[in-house]
Amino acid sequence: MPDSTSVTLKVNGVQVSVLAGATVAVAVTVAGQACRTSVSGEPRGPLCGMGICYECRVSINGMPHCRSCQILCQSGMDVRTDG
Ligand code: FES
Repeated sequence: MPDSTSVTLKVNGVQVSVLAGATVAVAVTVAGQACRTSVSGEPRGPLCGMGICYECRVSINGMPHCRSCQILCQSGMDVRTDG
């Protein structure tokens, strides 16, 4: 349930609420989604959590290749996986 300590955004069109200060990688995980799919078709998600591996790439508000582990959630964000 959203409140003043939560942020609501969309992941692949599905509304998700997370605690304020959570990264987009957390929102993608809460949504039960993988961040992207590897060239061999395997689901990929956050690995290092510190901006080095690029496994957590998503599109945010139409901008591709955003490292979701490095970006804090903001209300109204439109996050798309496989970006
Ligand atoms: S989890 Fe490694 S760059 Fe985001």
